[in-house]
Amino acid sequence: MGWLVTYDSVYGATTAAAMHIAEALAEQGIEADLHPIGVEDISNYDAIVLGSPIHMGRCTKAVKQFLKKNRMALTSKQVAFFFTCMSVFSKEYRSSFPLYVDPSFDDPNRPPARLRFMADNHTVSYYLNQFLKLTPGSQPVAIAFFRGRLRMADLKLIHRLLMRFAKFALPEVQDGDFLNPTVIRTWAQSLQGMAS
Ligand SMILES: Cc1cc2nc3c(=O)[nH]c(=O)nc-3n(C[C@H](O)[C@H](O)[C@H](O)COP(=O)(O)O)c2cc1C
Repeated sequence: MGWLVTYDSVYGATTAAAMHIAEALAEQGIEADLHPIGVEDISNYDAIVLGSPIHMGRCTKAVKQFLKKNRMALTSKQVAFFFTCMSVFSKEYRSSFPLYVDPSFDDPNRPPARLRFMADNHTVSYYLNQFLKLTPGSQPVAIAFFRGRLRMADLKLIHRLLMRFAKFALPEVQDGDFLNPTVIRTWAQSLQGMAS
């Protein structure tokens, strides 16, 4: 049974999450291959765990290309998706698959959005409506949203400007490393039955 954990990452947070997932699987006796997005031939894998950061409400271009290229192949595999992001409103979403949302997004003291449309664009349904169109025919075994990492000082200028606006609109978007290895590993452990 071949497992692949593959990911794209712009600033490293999703790479770190993928490494936690691969390690947690290894602790369960599952030796997954860990690769940046772009693996040419996925035919040897039965189970694929794919991660992307959410940038401007969407997965990255490289993830999109991978999904497009492997659209047919993915329909016959067990797939799970994970995302790292800084803001997600989750309450309203009903899914036909196990959906996991990092509990730190559900802070009852989370500050309210200053701009309503930005809150509306940072929901599970908004993100998944975009994303699931890219994977027609595949039935995800699980999907997770993890709180990621934002270091304004490291961002390239255009990203820094965009995120300055996002921080104004959604005060919960904060500078800092919010990746929670325990949360990520616990989710990864729940995947162990996915390819049995
Ligand atoms: C240009 C840019 C756009 C972003 N857009 C979103 C977004 O739409 N929603 C969100 O929750 N987080 C957004 N983020 C935050 C990232 O998803 C978060 O920092 C993530 O952990 C980054 O992962 P990476 O380090 O693997 O690239 C954005 C970050 C950047 C730099």
